[in-house]
Amino acid sequence: MAVRPKLVLGIETSCDETAAAVVASDRTILADRIASQTELHAPHGGVVPEIAARAHLERLDAMIELALADARIGFGELDAVAATLGPGLIGGLVVGATAAKAIAYARGLPFVAVNHLEAHALSARLSHGIDFPYLLLLVSGGHCQLLIVEEVGRYRRLGTTIDDAAGEAFDKVAKLLGLGYPGGPAIERAAEGVGNDAVALPRPMKGRPGCDFSFAGLKTAVRQLVEREAPLAPSRIPAIAAAFQAAVADVLEDRTARAIAAFRASHPTGTNLVVAGGVAANRTLRTRLEGLATRHGLGFVAPPARLCTDNAAMVAWAGAERLARGLVDRLDAAPRPRWPLDPDAAPAPFAGVKG
Ligand code: KG4
Ligand code: ZN
Repeated sequence: MAVRPKLVLGIETSCDETAAAVVASDRTILADRIASQTELHAPHGGVVPEIAARAHLERLDAMIELALADARIGFGELDAVAATLGPGLIGGLVVGATAAKAIAYARGLPFVAVNHLEAHALSARLSHGIDFPYLLLLVSGGHCQLLIVEEVGRYRRLGTTIDDAAGEAFDKVAKLLGLGYPGGPAIERAAEGVGNDAVALPRPMKGRPGCDFSFAGLKTAVRQLVEREAPLAPSRIPAIAAAFQAAVADVLEDRTARAIAAFRASHPTGTNLVVAGGVAANRTLRTRLEGLATRHGLGFVAPPARLCTDNAAMVAWAGAERLARGLVDRLDAAPRPRWPLDPDAAPAPFAGVKG
């Protein structure tokens, strides 16, 4: 008799998306609801933690109900509840963790505490079903890391940002150019079809040993340029956006090339380069990384954009992966604003995670 796939409810509240999803252990996404708070934070040019926590509290119950309705199931048909317990903004983490624990307790279900970075890291197994090990470039608003994904719960960090995350740089540069928040999609739109050589920008860390990143200097270079040219002619905005996007892609490609060499040496059975996180939605970056992977004889895997930006399907999936291995958690598991995937990695000032 065929074994019925396990159904996991996933909850994501670590930053500015309030999300709930139902995913089956056979990789079917039965429901994937996201309430974005972009409009609440846009006037502030970035996420305001107190506003985010309150919005999660107001919206989460409705997201869970809608997700169950989309999946056409009740709480009784769930096999587990998973929630992001870190890293992230503590107010939001507490809201999601408390809701998940309450459901698990009331229904007698296993509870899985999910690391948000692990959820991003495993999203390519949900979308593409790839095998371990693989090399992962995780690039989002809060994180910028190169990791070898060996198994669920087993990660080796090769590099991280020593200052800003890549998405953070996109957001800050978009603000400088008056392009609004979130900055990544706005910069990508502004740069569409525009040449990237009208403005010279630095490539921080390019060619340096190791796989670490730095974006603060690039952001400063854009700020100085904008100040020099103030008031900025509207015609300059697309040129600067395109030059900035090209500089970020250059740096990410250079750092990833070094990581591929390290991955090849330590994990010769690995066959894929994966990109995940919000910045992975960027088409220029995808094209560059795909070319890089192909030149090195690796497959290139990028989950669809909806699974790259923050969502609860990846959290539910990480929950399903952990459940299948018996990795469930106690109901007194505490939210963790900082939670590195590789505890053995050398401490970095920010480790690609906003504090
Ligand atoms: O993964 P995510 O939704 O949230 C975090 O965990 O941080 O990533 C959001 C980040 C934002 O900084 C946003 O500007 C960036 O991803 N982003 C992009 C694009 N879409 C989103 N960056 C560049 N190009 C895009 N198309
Ligand atoms: Zn994220």
